[in-house]
Amino acid sequence: MSKKEPGILVSFEGTEGSGKSTLMKRVYQLAQEASYRVIQTREPGGSTLAEKIRSILLETTMNPWTEVLLYEAARAEHTNLCIKPALERGDIILCDRFTDSTLAYQAHARGLPWKDIKTLNKMATFGIRPHLTVFLDMDPKMSLSRAQNPNRFEAEGLEFHKRVRLGFIKARSENPKRWLTLRNQKSTPEENAAVVLKHLIQRFKNRLKLNG
Ligand code: TYD
Repeated sequence: MSKKEPGILVSFEGTEGSGKSTLMKRVYQLAQEASYRVIQTREPGGSTLAEKIRSILLETTMNPWTEVLLYEAARAEHTNLCIKPALERGDIILCDRFTDSTLAYQAHARGLPWKDIKTLNKMATFGIRPHLTVFLDMDPKMSLSRAQNPNRFEAEGLEFHKRVRLGFIKARSENPKRWLTLRNQKSTPEENAAVVLKHLIQRFKNRLKLNG
């Protein structure tokens, strides 16, 4: 977590098809309607070069180390050009996936060493960590059947996605206070978005900035 900058970084995590991107969009709309200074971005992506790296990552089969280094390269660009300046401006940054996805996918599901991935995450973010991580938890069997944009990760089998989910749960266990876990079977995206915004306001009320 960055203590110096006034902004708030909120990451949204979950397995494929869990509905986290829809949830994030709803939170963005609600925060805008309430006049908060808010931006939305995503990983891999969020800057011109990082979006180029994204298309390579989603289309090309590669060695797991090449894969993780490309995710981290995209992250270093995105953090430097988008997240850091927004934190300095005092914005709320909603980010669709961030460092915990690398722990869940590349460390826990692909089998790369957890400790090394944590070090790479730290390097690529210059030590910036999310203030809050919203985890939309869903049974991978169900979420996979809902996934809409097939990429090579979605083509991985159920066992891979079960490991991804357990990877998120392991990351959460290392820092439970940072995480807000929601389940989407029980509530609509609108209901969950209201829960997220309420949580943000309660937890960070002294830091949130309004437009104008
Ligand atoms: P995307 O189409 O955005 O998937 P989703 O809608 O599920 O977020 O593709 C991003 C893919 O990249 C997704 O399959 C998860 C994967 N990923 C990693 O494996 N490691 C990472 O560090 C990140 C950020 C994403």
